[in-house]
Amino acid sequence: MSKSKTAIVVLAAGLGTRMKSSLPKVMHPIGGRPMVKHLLDTLESLKPEKVAVVVGPGMDAVEEAVAPYPTAIQHDRLGTGHAVMAARDEIENFKGDVLIVYGDTPLLTKQTLRAMLEARRSKPSPAVVVLGFVPDDPGQYGRLILDDDGYLEEIVEYREAGPDELAVGLCNSGVMCVDGQLLFNLLDRVKNDNAKGEYYLTDIVALANEDGFSCAVVEGDEEELLGVNSRVELAAAEMLVQDQLRTKIMEGGATLADPSTAYFSWDTQIGQDVTIGPNVVFGPGVTVGNNVEIRAFCHLEGATVADGAILGPFARLRPGAEVGETARVGNFCEVKNATLDKGAKVNHLTYIGDAKIGEGANIGAGTITCNYDGYFKSLTEIGKGAFIGSNTALVAPVKVGDGAIVGAGSVVTKEVEADELAVTRAPQKGIKGWAAKFREKRSAEKAAAKKK
Ligand code: UD1
Ligand code: MG
Repeated sequence: MSKSKTAIVVLAAGLGTRMKSSLPKVMHPIGGRPMVKHLLDTLESLKPEKVAVVVGPGMDAVEEAVAPYPTAIQHDRLGTGHAVMAARDEIENFKGDVLIVYGDTPLLTKQTLRAMLEARRSKPSPAVVVLGFVPDDPGQYGRLILDDDGYLEEIVEYREAGPDELAVGLCNSGVMCVDGQLLFNLLDRVKNDNAKGEYYLTDIVALANEDGFSCAVVEGDEEELLGVNSRVELAAAEMLVQDQLRTKIMEGGATLADPSTAYFSWDTQIGQDVTIGPNVVFGPGVTVGNNVEIRAFCHLEGATVADGAILGPFARLRPGAEVGETARVGNFCEVKNATLDKGAKVNHLTYIGDAKIGEGANIGAGTITCNYDGYFKSLTEIGKGAFIGSNTALVAPVKVGDGAIVGAGSVVTKEVEADELAVTRAPQKGIKGWAAKFREKRSAEKAAAKKK
């Protein structure tokens, strides 16, 4: 490809009314991050000179999400052509190619965008290249009208189209690549005398033809052009992204017991020879080493899992959980902001929050780190090889030394030294024969009551 420069305008001022949401449409997450971020990642791979995102008034969340790229505000929503005009200050007279993409088309690939740039830059250097596609149902898409040589003559919007035009299956995806030197000259001449009373970006094709320039079409794939306008389409996009992530993770050397029930985030990192059971969810920020076994129904988010660890079934790792090599987190255990050193075991019904657990320590069933007093979080430190008996409450801040043992059912409020035994439960009292006498007395009372 020649070294021509690229600028990109992302249109994201739409209200997304059909989402029925207070969140701007492009902020709805797919694979754990806003859909506009997926698109920006793809755009970045083209190494553009400039990117400008057109947003509506009050879309501060979008502005923040797309930073450091600048945003331009389109105050009145007067159509796609009008939206591109809002970015005039950023890209007017750009000496290169201007790509125009929609913020709600998150699955667009860099290969397709490259093909468009390639078409713009090769003979006969069309003034406008449009990304077309042939959907199963052309519905209300704009139709691409070609001349006998296959060049694009005009785009006719659904509402303006007659029967012959509506019969055309080749549709406008909305993505365009335009000569930066011509773009605003063409846009300045776009009128709004149409069914919607809007300034259609699509009109620049007929105007370019009138000026004697050629326009061309590059064809794309319907799946990648999926536009998200409703929650149903959002779910469809999520499923497509999940399938891509599953494939990537299996190709990286992990076995998924039932791929369709494993859910990943855009940044999930999984090593080799990892097995993932059915119904496992990876929220954002998870890194898993090699030879890890993640059994069914685990939920991980913001966590790191080192080589050889075993999780679940039904384990929950929350942000800041760091599970060391060969450590285990078993069923119904929750770990948050805590490190488990090599070989530590937290196997049953336990909450470990704001804690450091030493190498090889064994945390008994039902142990709770009481890390929060309603105002502040405090740290629990458990030494190497310590043994915490079942149903222990560790009232933080508190330390248990290396090799110490805490008796089952204890409430630990003071430091336990290395190799010390701490037991805080009340001593056991025994009364021989009491249970048998109790049963005899109560059953006699019950029989007497029935006779009355
Ligand atoms: C547009 C195309 C149509 C194409 C279809 C593909 C035009 C005139 N028509 O129609 O040919 O088949 O997309 O999906 O371009 N936007 C703004 N400001 C506005 C209007 C729109 O930022 O004033 C943004 C929206 O947020 C959206 C995009 O532009 O991301 C497309 O707008 P939309 O109203 O959905 O256009 P369509 O009528 O679907
Ligand atoms: Mg649309």
